[in-house]
Amino acid sequence: MSLTTSQNIHIDKIESSRIDQVDFNNLTFGNIFTDYMFECDYKEGAWHKPTIKPYGPLTISPAAKIFHYGQAVFEGMKAYKDTNDRVFLFRPEENFKRINKSAKRMAIPEFPRDIFFDAMHQIINLDRAWIKPGVGNSLYIRPFVIATQVGVSASPSNEYKFMILLSPAQAYYSGAVKVVIAEEYSRSANGGVGYAKAAGNYGAQFYPTNLAREKGFQQVIWTDSNEHKYLEEAGTMNVFFRINDTLITAPTSDRILDGVTRKSVIALAEHDGINVEVRPILVSEIVEAAKNNELKEIFGAGTAAVISPVSAFSYKNVTYDLPNLEAGYASQFKKRLTNIQHNLAEDPFNWRYEISK
Ligand code: COI
Repeated sequence: MSLTTSQNIHIDKIESSRIDQVDFNNLTFGNIFTDYMFECDYKEGAWHKPTIKPYGPLTISPAAKIFHYGQAVFEGMKAYKDTNDRVFLFRPEENFKRINKSAKRMAIPEFPRDIFFDAMHQIINLDRAWIKPGVGNSLYIRPFVIATQVGVSASPSNEYKFMILLSPAQAYYSGAVKVVIAEEYSRSANGGVGYAKAAGNYGAQFYPTNLAREKGFQQVIWTDSNEHKYLEEAGTMNVFFRINDTLITAPTSDRILDGVTRKSVIALAEHDGINVEVRPILVSEIVEAAKNNELKEIFGAGTAAVISPVSAFSYKNVTYDLPNLEAGYASQFKKRLTNIQHNLAEDPFNWRYEISK
């Protein structure tokens, strides 16, 4: 193993790459990781020793607070390669701000901006060969922070580990998604952590999502925890509804994730002159619109999921099928976004961020 050091990040090089063992035409989301990972520890009030090393297991005490109190936050980002071998991130500043917003809510110290961006540049360049060009291919980037202090007293950790993993990705969902509208369980509540990418936000959804799966639905659309009257977000994505030609999505709040894809879709729709309404959406309004054939589309928007059309939703045990629109808003926004991400179209909002070699 050879050791090299970038200006600020210690780099521990691999002996040989695992890339030849990977079938890039048959990737399932989030199962394969690249050659490298980034690691930086927080101790005695400061972040120390940023290191990039070969991807592999960690040694952590079973008494570390992450295992007992779930003090952890994460982000989801992607890198894209164009046909000239240029690599781009999409609005990475938003992810940087959001991981620190999530961290603050979970009593985790903020991570420095300079190390975050330096780490992105260094690790993505080391694993550059793992990013395949072409719309549909990307490198999913998973920054995360875990509480590593040893001890089971229920108090915030005083030691943390910030890491970045990289995973070559294609589609998150293999086809259109069928969803159930939540009537009993809740994802988040006022004053809670719904807006944060806190690990437990996701874990808490697994059981009700399993119940939906047993009935043939892949995701739950969460509703407000008070009355289950208003539509909020789905497990891995924000949700948009199209009634006639108007695009509607719920406003962000302390219950809803401020999704980067969500805000990009709103910006593109407004730019294209589509009527966009960001407002509370009643379940009854969507059911009525479906009955009257005015509900044209539902789609999810997220980094992993990109834009995922919903083919049907279930509410009070009635399933409502949605029309299969070839040229609907979902396909229009998916194309607009992925063309910008892959440097195939103008970038009027300056969303691309190049990782230069
Ligand atoms: C993302 O889109 O990055 C997400 O956070 C979804 C993830 C839970 C798979």
